[in-house]
Amino acid sequence: MRLEPRSPAGQTGDRLGETLDRLRAEGRYRELSVLETPEFSSNDYLGLARSPELAEAVVRAVRTSDRVASTGPRLLSGNAPEWEALEAEFAEFAGMEAALYFGSGYAANVGLLGALLRPEDTVYSDALNHASLIDGIRLSRANTVVFPHLDFDFLEDALTVDAGTGERFIVVESVFSMDGDRSPMDDLIVLAERFGAGLIIDEAHAVGVFGRRGQGLIPDALRSSEPLVAAVYTCGKALASPGAFVAGSGRLKRFLVNKARTFVYSTALPPYVASHVSAALRFSANADGARLRLHERARRLRSGLSNRNVDIGRSDTQIVPLMFGSSQRAVAAAESLTAAGFTVRPIRPPTVPEGTDRIRLTVTADTRPAAIDGLIRAVAGAERP
Ligand SMILES: Cc1ncc(COP(=O)(O)O)c(C=O)c1O
Repeated sequence: MRLEPRSPAGQTGDRLGETLDRLRAEGRYRELSVLETPEFSSNDYLGLARSPELAEAVVRAVRTSDRVASTGPRLLSGNAPEWEALEAEFAEFAGMEAALYFGSGYAANVGLLGALLRPEDTVYSDALNHASLIDGIRLSRANTVVFPHLDFDFLEDALTVDAGTGERFIVVESVFSMDGDRSPMDDLIVLAERFGAGLIIDEAHAVGVFGRRGQGLIPDALRSSEPLVAAVYTCGKALASPGAFVAGSGRLKRFLVNKARTFVYSTALPPYVASHVSAALRFSANADGARLRLHERARRLRSGLSNRNVDIGRSDTQIVPLMFGSSQRAVAAAESLTAAGFTVRPIRPPTVPEGTDRIRLTVTADTRPAAIDGLIRAVAGAERP
């Protein structure tokens, strides 16, 4: 009997179906859903996303803008005075010489690392770095040493090994997105200076949240010192707006304008978006009260859970993981908390390493203390692994 060859589209469809079935069996299947009460799953740390004043600034910007689309990449027709002004404003806000705006944090990291690192360079990357940092490093084809999460003894040993003729870079997040712990900046500076390595720091979960006016965790000492090559600030979290900045020297900016592929080959966002980001920056700079509330609420959640012997890993920020050993346990716990009225989602590999499945809780400046106490009771009352 002659077997009919499967059509290419049928073959691909079968393969996709098998992958989806396997993900389901492993408890790692993901589905889009609209969270009804995202109180403990939001990155809107300052509570700006629903600010009527910010909404009003966006509406005004749309009304007064001469176009609602950019019409091209920034190097062609897409540039506008609004972008130039915004980048100058952000550089001033962050205390850096210059800043370049990208359409997202993902694009910023991939564009920066893909352009800056060369195959002869060596990059030392924390094991828990975000996927966008990992993808940028991979794209660059630089030699890569992944060091265990914040294990600076390991990093020091690795830096001691001769890395050849290329340059060396250490890449970390200042606040880690899934674990909510922080990179010790002073130790990083010492290591980078001692071994002549450049520092690249992702401030995604620190901008708006930590530092004077919400500048992030990069301290003044680092801003003006040699090792800092670039810092990345996403706007989509505490700054409640689209896009991201890479900040550093004026020369870095000019280099990225020429070489960062996610900048050069991508249509700019509409110019009114610059006014959105600019308004969010001004709100953030004046949001000391919200920052105080945010940190007070984060402490309340962390200490409430720790006092009930719940494993929250090394969190000391507004990101608080509930650690589980397996995807199935994390899924079951998320379902039971959701049924109790706390809509949360499990985070599973490959987003986090094998065996560290978790529920990632976050608080914002607007999270109600009573809701935090209720969640703590629900977590403590749920069956723990
Ligand atoms: C540490 C880190 N860097 C970069 C990004 C990407 O930023 P964006 O969501 O703006 O693409 C994220 C977002 O989850 C992040 O957590």
